[in-house]
Amino acid sequence: MTHNEGSDFVSDKSYIYACSSSELEEGDLIECETNTKTIVVGRGEGTVYAFDGICTHEHSELVDGELDGTCLTCPLHFACFDVGDGSVLEGPAEDPLQVYQTLEVDGSVWINYEGGE
Ligand code: FES
Repeated sequence: MTHNEGSDFVSDKSYIYACSSSELEEGDLIECETNTKTIVVGRGEGTVYAFDGICTHEHSELVDGELDGTCLTCPLHFACFDVGDGSVLEGPAEDPLQVYQTLEVDGSVWINYEGGE
């Protein structure tokens, strides 16, 4: 991505700043507060993913889970989600996880979150 393209998307209000790229190493999970919810960003196999911070099974904070590649394991009952599309890979969760597009530009990680700020 060129610098100009980065400037274009940063002016798009649907993107919120999450963290600097250097803060998010392989397997790391970081919480980002919006005005309405908590979103977690994580890096798996070099790619940055973003998803809701609360498990769809019960009230568990997914920032305390474990990310291995695209597989996120919930810390409470160990459901596994694919953070690429939010699908459930393994129960007990049945409902998919809400995921968000991310961009990594000029050393910053951004989440495409409509209505956030
Ligand atoms: S709360 Fe996540 S699997 Fe039960």
